[in-house]
Amino acid sequence: MNGTQGPEPRSAHSRPIQVSYAPQSGPAPMAGSGRGRRVAFGITATVAAAAMIGVGAVSWAHRSPAAAAQVEVSSTSTTGSHHPVSTPPAGTAPVTLVAHRVPAAPAVPAAKVNCNVKKCIALTFDDGPGPYTHKLLGELAAAKVEATFFLIGGNVGHYPSLVRAEVAGGHAVGNHSWSHPQLTLLSSSAVAREVARTQTAIHHAAGITPTLMRPPYGAVNPRVLGVLGQHHLSAVLWNVDTEDWKNRSVSITTQRALAGARPGAIILMHDIHPTTVQAVPGIIKALKARGYTLVTVPQLLGHPVAGHKYFNR
Ligand code: NI
Repeated sequence: MNGTQGPEPRSAHSRPIQVSYAPQSGPAPMAGSGRGRRVAFGITATVAAAAMIGVGAVSWAHRSPAAAAQVEVSSTSTTGSHHPVSTPPAGTAPVTLVAHRVPAAPAVPAAKVNCNVKKCIALTFDDGPGPYTHKLLGELAAAKVEATFFLIGGNVGHYPSLVRAEVAGGHAVGNHSWSHPQLTLLSSSAVAREVARTQTAIHHAAGITPTLMRPPYGAVNPRVLGVLGQHHLSAVLWNVDTEDWKNRSVSITTQRALAGARPGAIILMHDIHPTTVQAVPGIIKALKARGYTLVTVPQLLGHPVAGHKYFNR
């Protein structure tokens, strides 16, 4: 993506953070999983403080962990726009959870979806919020579908109203680190900072504290999982990779999503690419036609355990 379609021109103090990525093995589908703590994604708090936390833009080289084949980076993303209008002043409450006139999706309540019976499948969107997230939320609402968003903390402060709209629309919101590093290469304290800073940003923007984390590049190890567990986070990976960041094609993204679809699957996409957002209505229509119920990751997994990792139901 680029910053040209953001709500405002790139800030003068945009500060791209370049993150290197050492190829490593990709996630392999993991059968079964422990179930434990119930995930609460309800809006339980009002926004207490302004969310202008991010002062710099975040960019990163995004490579598929599966494609350890040294594919050159095609995603030089930079979001540099601030979004001051949508940030309420500190102490303002309650917050109106309507942003950008995105209608709240009257989606199926979590309690009414039984994925032991239904053919459930989860659409997940990483790396936002971004310039195309608003359009995506409109598409999801129109289709009455709830999805899961894994947010870059450095982007949250630029689009706090979109984070609120995601929550208001019934979508699950998770943590995708602050600056998209490969967490396994960081010290435990650095991992903790990446995680905690993003948790705080999301809480300030939308009044919720995520319980799900998608580690960038799917890179986790027992040490990183331990840090995530300390922050009450489960690691959510995927078992269907659309490679939308690489193909930037509506038809290929759609084909890969549908080819990988199976009950209990978690489909990986990125809402920072316009082609992905364009593909979503067709993907939803085709999945519904095949009898799938599209759910959030908490709905799909039920009771993910903090410090554990999940690739599918
Ligand atoms: Ni990512």
